[in-house]
Order: sequence, then C-alpha cells, then structure tokens
Amino acid sequence: MHFAPRDTTPKRGHNTETGPAMVRNNDKTEELAAEDVLPDDPQQRIEWTYAAEDVDRLAKRYDKWAEIYDADLSDVHGYVAPQKAVALLAQHVPKDAMVLDAGAGTGMVGVLLAKEGYRHLKALDYSDGMLARAREKGVYQTLAQADLNEPIDMADDSVDAVICIGTLTYLKPRVLYEFVRVTRPGGVIAYTSKTTVHVTNGFQAVENELSDFMKWRLLERSDEFVPMPETYPDIVYRLYAWQVK
Ligand SMILES: C[S@@+](CC[C@H](N)C(=O)[O-])C[C@H]1O[C@@H](n2cnc3c(N)ncnc32)[C@H](O)[C@@H]1O
Repeated sequence: MHFAPRDTTPKRGHNTETGPAMVRNNDKTEELAAEDVLPDDPQQRIEWTYAAEDVDRLAKRYDKWAEIYDADLSDVHGYVAPQKAVALLAQHVPKDAMVLDAGAGTGMVGVLLAKEGYRHLKALDYSDGMLARAREKGVYQTLAQADLNEPIDMADDSVDAVICIGTLTYLKPRVLYEFVRVTRPGGVIAYTSKTTVHVTNGFQAVENELSDFMKWRLLERSDEFVPMPETYPDIVYRLYAWQVK
C-alpha cells in the first residue's frame, strides 16, 4: 500500500531543528531543562506535550504529568472522550473480547471498559509514568511500553478490538495499518481523531485506502464533539469505529 502523509509527528531522539538535544550549547541545554518543568497552568500542560520535539521528550513530559493527569482531565477540562468511546465500543464488541488500549495513558479508558464488564484488557503506551498510573488501576492484564509509531510487537489477529483515545494526534497514520494487522477479522477498531488534523496529517487517506482495499468497513463516524468542554471549546473530535474484514 502507498501513502505519503505530511509527517508532523515528533521524531524519536531527534530534534528537527537542531539535531539531538544533548549537543546543544549550555545556554540552550539550560533553557530546555527549564522548559521541561511541569507547567503550573493546566492548559499549558497540554500545549507542553504538543510542543515536544521528539517522542522521548514527549514521554518524559507525560511521565511528569502522570500523577495529576486524571485530576486535570476530569476536574479542569471536563474530558468526555473516554466515556463516549467506551459507549461506542460497547455497542459493537462483546464483553469477553480481548481489547487493546493503544495510548492507554493512566488507564481512564480501561477503568471505564472494566466498569462495562470487559475483563481482557491490554495497555500500550510510550510513557512509563503514565503506564505506572494505569497499572495501579488494576484493570489491565498486560501493560507494556511501546512507541506506536513503530511496528507493534504483537502477532497478527491477536486482539478482538483496539481502542485509541486522545492519542492519534501524536501518531503517524500508518499506525492504522498496525491496528488492522493485530485485530482479527470481524474485530473492531475505535479511535478519536481531531477534526483539524484528520485530513492534513494523512489519517483520512489511510482510512480510504484501507476501505478501498477492503481491509475494513466503517461502522460509525460520530458527530463532531468537544472533548474538553471546560477549557477548549474549539478543539473538536470525531469518534470512528471500523470492522476489520
Ligand atoms: C492525551 S493522552 C490519552 C491517554 C488516554 N487514552 C486517555 O484518553 O486518557 C495521550 C497518550 O498518548 C501517549 N503517546 C503519545 N505518543 C505516543 C507514541 N508514539 N507511542 C505510544 N504512546 C504515545 C502518551 O504517553 C499519553 O499517555
């Protein structure tokens, strides 16, 4: 399959402007160290993750945020994406399914899946700090660190469903091929995508390609909704659910 999306995602261990951060001069190194302090303002914490130049720094920022991530998302931002996504998944996926939570973060999605009755949950995320919080929730059978911009270390057809919430913006669209590969035929892939980057970051092109090649079919594309209504009324998501063929 061929696709050539514009690649705007953070690069592993590489700063696109200046090369590896460690070769910077002392002033710049100090500037970066200062920049890597968790911002006091909850809104700046989100922007701070988006501004990370590479995936390792992104993960370090999430490590630092992990302790208060749940409180920020629930109490400050009024985050509703996990609830909406789990409700959608539950319409299409039986409760005995093996579900991969890709970009599981602190496990907000896993907790809701467990409340719905799902008992076979796997978590992948690149931030150890976020995974540690997810582990404490006690709802995942397995948790592993993984860069979802790389091939996923799982066998073909090994899960019944993939759920990926609030994470796609950080990823390259080829992750969708990996989601299809690890999901058994008949299984379901559900994710949120930010409307402003869905086309420009190449996700729609890969979705269309997978549809054209009859690798999956669309089950649902939600109306637009605001995932963080208390703080970001202009950020708009859609939820997608696909059935793998
Ligand atoms: C906004 S959080 C969403 C977490 C969770 N799904 C939720 O809805 O609360 C985004 C997550 O994506 C993870 N992430 C970002 N880039 C990643 C990558 N390349 N590979 C794996 N995880 C990544 C971050 O570590 C973080 O936990």
